[in-house]
Amino acid sequence: MNQPREQWASKLGFILAAAGSAIGLGNIWKFPYVAGENGGAAFIIIYLICILVIGLPVLISEILIGRTTQSNPVGAFRALGKNKFWISIGAMGVIAGFIILSFYSVVGGWSLGYIIEASSGVFSNFSDGNAANAHFVSLIGNPVWIISLHALFMTISVAIVLGGVQKGIEKGSKFLMPLLFIIMIVLVLRGLTLEGAEKGLDFILNPRWDQISAETVLVALGQAFFTLSLGMGAMLTYGSYISDSDNIFASGVQIVFLDTLIALLAGVAIFTAVFATGQNPGSGPGLIFQTLPLVFTKMPGGYLFSILFFLLLTIAAITSSISLLEVVVAYFVDDKGWSRKNAVLVFGGIIFILGIPCALSFNILSDFTLLGLTWFDMSDYVTSNLMLPLGGFFIAIFVAYFWGYQRALPNLRNGAEILFEKYSWIITAWKIFLKYFSPVMILLVLLHSLGVF
Ligand code: PHE
Repeated sequence: MNQPREQWASKLGFILAAAGSAIGLGNIWKFPYVAGENGGAAFIIIYLICILVIGLPVLISEILIGRTTQSNPVGAFRALGKNKFWISIGAMGVIAGFIILSFYSVVGGWSLGYIIEASSGVFSNFSDGNAANAHFVSLIGNPVWIISLHALFMTISVAIVLGGVQKGIEKGSKFLMPLLFIIMIVLVLRGLTLEGAEKGLDFILNPRWDQISAETVLVALGQAFFTLSLGMGAMLTYGSYISDSDNIFASGVQIVFLDTLIALLAGVAIFTAVFATGQNPGSGPGLIFQTLPLVFTKMPGGYLFSILFFLLLTIAAITSSISLLEVVVAYFVDDKGWSRKNAVLVFGGIIFILGIPCALSFNILSDFTLLGLTWFDMSDYVTSNLMLPLGGFFIAIFVAYFWGYQRALPNLRNGAEILFEKYSWIITAWKIFLKYFSPVMILLVLLHSLGVF
């Protein structure tokens, strides 16, 4: 407890780690199919507005709370909020970290498993979509396959977080993120050079406004939140390791830029290939694990590109999962005086166990449902649709109304003096978005996901 708190070794290290948290399954698995189902470029435009008007302001707030308090979410809200209600908002973040990682790691495990499947050449045997679907269903139906890979994925995340902020998370991100960017560029080039790629580009770049409804806006906002890792203190915790010379605004913009870029590139890589091989783009969540293997079967060089693709997906998932684990670990290290080693091993283990019923939701426990949702679906629903938006809502309210700009601004100014002096309209815009737009919009999403309208 008395040891000095760790810090990132460099600004770049923080940007890559935070971008690593943001860039994950949400970008590569979810974004392309959600955009594909909801009007292509029309969705993307609405999504970009949500990112700028709500995502970025909340992201900046989280980093700011973290840097000001140098603490995990619970400690941060205790220091600034000084009452039980705000502390419980921090605690909700830590609990969300537990739950999200438990199901996230299961999907991360599928991705790891698909690297093995791809390498063994299984994908080249698929004659049609049914064979690819049947293969996926049989894999996730196998408890041993799914739990072992979940264990492997958790072990990798645990190993990185054990190394600490600088030698684990930062070093890992500095190696993995550039690799991710390179693989992404290779896949985009492959996609663009396939015959018939323009149909895929058309699909994502051509706005189909008729497919847009009020619901689309809500989906876009929910996606903006999940993809930027907002609402549960991951960015707050990472922000607690930055120094006073960092410009929080500039960092926020860079993180958002990288996250959005990767989501768009994933869309290009996937849809050019899907269209060029004549597959169905609208296959929803199954797009990556069911449609893509068949796409690789039909594509020149598909063997190599399939391995690269699942490597990319796995890297993206790992750099997100370490940020989820770090939230839990930081709480036990800062607040309970645990050693990092004990916290990582114990809570990594508990999260692994919590993930077992998620893994079994696709086989043994598939009939074990509450309100029609399996354990896996429930974990996803409760966190993505309720806890994250609720957390984001209160973070915006906290900074704008409770803590107040007067107390918040001095720290924000550190490292961002030039903005305050020359471009103060940016600060004003941030204040207005956070005070009025973010809470109202988030509340609408929340009420919608609760089925109020
Ligand atoms: N942002 C990650 C993704 O897009 C998911 C995530 C959510 C990570 C919340 C950390 C905290 O996949």
